[in-house]
Amino acid sequence: METHFFTRRDFLRHLTLAGAAALLPLMPSAWAATGQYVPAGRAAAFPPGQFHAVTLPGGHRVYVRRLPGRRPAFLALSAACTHKGCPVAWRAADRKFHCPCHGGQFDATGRAIAGPPPRPLAALPTKVRNGILLIQA
Ligand code: FES
Repeated sequence: METHFFTRRDFLRHLTLAGAAALLPLMPSAWAATGQYVPAGRAAAFPPGQFHAVTLPGGHRVYVRRLPGRRPAFLALSAACTHKGCPVAWRAADRKFHCPCHGGQFDATGRAIAGPPPRPLAALPTKVRNGILLIQA
């Protein structure tokens, strides 16, 4: 009968895998534009003025803000940092997007304002059809 012991090497291997899994959300996005409009939700469900994180079909994460006005209009910014592709996070307290990888920052329009990002966040075209917000991904 064979006895299996959980060796130090096994423990370190599992620890390494768990650590890698924990870092996955920080990994650069492998998203590539398809040019197709995909549904992001009911347009009326987005209150004006606030950013909402939306994960589109296909896994691309975007931040959507409904612009003030009578006709629904939207700003949709890719969450992929323009430096190395890490996912940025919106912080309402200071009204900036922050990148966790190298400290890049973007303002509420997506403009790069600090750190290494060379370009603004990608603004994705939007349209509303039958009450559904569609984003070109
Ligand atoms: S990947 Fe965002 S600052 Fe480097």
